[in-house]
Amino acid sequence: VLRHDIVDAIGDTPLVRLRTGADRGVAVYAKLEMHNPYAMKDRVAKQVVLAARRDGLLADGAPIIESSSGTLALGLAFVGTALGHPVHIVTDPRIDRLTLAKLRALGARVHVVPAMDAHGWQGARLTRLRALMAEHDDAFWPRQYENPENPAAYLALAEELTADLDRIDVLVGAVGSGGSLCGTARVLRKANPDLHVVGVDCVGSVLFGQPDRPRRLQSGLGNSLHPPNLDHDQIDEVHWLGDHEAFAATRDLVRVEKLFAGNTSGSVFRVLGELARRSAPGTTVVGIFPDRGDRYVDTVYDDEHWVEHGLPARPIAERPRRVLPGTVVDSWSYVRHDADAPPPALLFVESNTTGTGMRALILARDKGFEPVFLTDTPARYVGLDETGATVVVCATDDPESLRAAAEPYRGRLAGVTTTSEFALVAAAGLAVTLGLPAEPPETVAGCRDKATVRRLLAKAGVPQPRSEVVRDAAEARDAVVAVGLPCVVKPVSESGSTNVLRCDDLTAARAHVDRVLAVRTNVRGQPVPRAVLVEEYLDGPEFSVEMFGVDGAQTLLGVVGKSVGAAPHFVERQHVFPADLPTDVVESLSSTVRAALDAVGLRRGPSHTEVRLTPAGPRIVEINPRLAGGMIPELFRLTTGTDLLAAQLDLATGREPEVDCVPDGCAAIRFLTAPRPGVLAEVDGLDQARALPGVTRVTVTAQVGDRVAPPTDAYGRLGYVIARGASRTEVLASLDAADAAIVITTSAE
Ligand SMILES: Cc1ncc(COP(=O)(O)O)c(C=O)c1O
Repeated sequence: VLRHDIVDAIGDTPLVRLRTGADRGVAVYAKLEMHNPYAMKDRVAKQVVLAARRDGLLADGAPIIESSSGTLALGLAFVGTALGHPVHIVTDPRIDRLTLAKLRALGARVHVVPAMDAHGWQGARLTRLRALMAEHDDAFWPRQYENPENPAAYLALAEELTADLDRIDVLVGAVGSGGSLCGTARVLRKANPDLHVVGVDCVGSVLFGQPDRPRRLQSGLGNSLHPPNLDHDQIDEVHWLGDHEAFAATRDLVRVEKLFAGNTSGSVFRVLGELARRSAPGTTVVGIFPDRGDRYVDTVYDDEHWVEHGLPARPIAERPRRVLPGTVVDSWSYVRHDADAPPPALLFVESNTTGTGMRALILARDKGFEPVFLTDTPARYVGLDETGATVVVCATDDPESLRAAAEPYRGRLAGVTTTSEFALVAAAGLAVTLGLPAEPPETVAGCRDKATVRRLLAKAGVPQPRSEVVRDAAEARDAVVAVGLPCVVKPVSESGSTNVLRCDDLTAARAHVDRVLAVRTNVRGQPVPRAVLVEEYLDGPEFSVEMFGVDGAQTLLGVVGKSVGAAPHFVERQHVFPADLPTDVVESLSSTVRAALDAVGLRRGPSHTEVRLTPAGPRIVEINPRLAGGMIPELFRLTTGTDLLAAQLDLATGREPEVDCVPDGCAAIRFLTAPRPGVLAEVDGLDQARALPGVTRVTVTAQVGDRVAPPTDAYGRLGYVIARGASRTEVLASLDAADAAIVITTSAE
């Protein structure tokens, strides 16, 4: 094509069909703006300078001053000097060698600011630019962030696209000033009002509400300021990529598509891949590729640069995480603003059956997620239908089956979580498989195996009872001798004090070891290890210490006082929050628990650790890598207003959990139990109990006709009463009154 001069060579760039999407029948095109004489913003420079000359803002020979470290600097230096203007470019030390050499070779004056200010590098550059403007009173400042000629420059680009393609369904572009994407979108929407516009930004840019990270490594896109040329109404979906992800994508782009480009093209390419996976066959998707790769040889394409910034160690998300607006992200994530999009999906692997499980599903929906409930037995869950959750039946103990069940949601997954003790490892494993942040499944599995916990605590010197693992009945005697009598015999992995027994002599201990070794599956039918713990019996009150970890920083939620039923069983009968303890004892309990969590490697999420306070100090009984059961979160909600279940869901979906727990008053739960074995004939006095001052809830979980007995584990409870009040005395009085009002009658079989 013959051009009159080099400025006339701007535009009319190639549109190239990519390999990406071809397998699915989705047509993905790259608009190669890198084929402009310098780069995409040659268009902006030409438009802005010609308009300023036309409008009398820029006299013949008057200087042009702009702040830029990349493509606009090149465009202005090129077009400005070609038209006879001195060009001043204000930039910062992150400018690359190639751009600097080109600017100087073109004859531009380059001013490099030495340090960032409170608004990052952009702020410092603007201060310098204003000083220069004061020195040159005839100077023209193009102001790419607000000059309407910036987006207007893309009318031509949009027209080139519509000349080449009959229909465009999706437009993808990186966003710095917003000019290219919004300018192009505005024109394309005239032809297709349903155009789906996708902005690509970097982690740590404020453009779409993320907190500023001035040390981010990506250039060209992102911003520490809000440019007026970014028209949020034009953008239906925003993706953020981490530096490592953008750089890796840029290398993939040249390997797969043979396009040697800059990191903004790399990020656009990565997002095009995701949209191609998500789009129906026949969809046409266009991405804007702003510049060539040459400027990036010392960064994106340099292995040492990667090492220097710790990039090789950072995991690369295969698929983006769907988040809700307002979520702070640190790896590839996206939000959608188009109203007809399905909501982000939050996967639940099974659930507890004692209260909070179904509420978690409802809460997820209220927060704006689609709760997707993966279960092997939907019938196990009373009230599941009413939650509105999507139920997917699969073998939840089988990682492959879980992965397959999750597959249809992959493009819009917000997270994976569970309220079931028995699904903790499976849920963590699934999250890791899907590239979502989670506690390592091995850490969770370690906590669920009490023998492993004992070993790790011993290694770290965290106080705990003497303990022996017995794998064969013949070892029982030595174990009992080693820990002393009385002792506690319990399974290595169970919950709800199932089969935990205090034994006062060797015969009883041996018999119970035999009994536990004979058990092959837990209450959920999962196989259990053939191992028993024989432990020192600890004398002293029991507490649970509730913690919440975010990136290894553990927040103490509170300490709960427990009343355990009569020996030899250890059924918890009552929980009181906050526990009646002086500050120094709370401090000693929580520091012991912090040491224990550290020893087992738990860094993330809620934990519920049971501790006995012996005359010699706190001793760790067990660590549960989950929220407390037994309605303890309800006691926290009543006294602190903090919803721990919501905090769990927030953590699972990448949002900052609210875990500030300052109790106002006291709350307690007391469990209802059968006075003697028999068939439950009647539970009377419930309404009287409910009417008592301070009583907030009375629930009976057992049914008339059930065979009942004084409980030997948590599963033998018949229901509960919750009360709240200004003081512990007041709350316990309410519970005593409820106890007196409720009459449980059993009849002989
Ligand atoms: C290489 C590169 N890609 C993308 C962009 C983003 O373009 P816009 O400012 O039009 O949003 C820029 C902007 O400077 C850029 O230099």
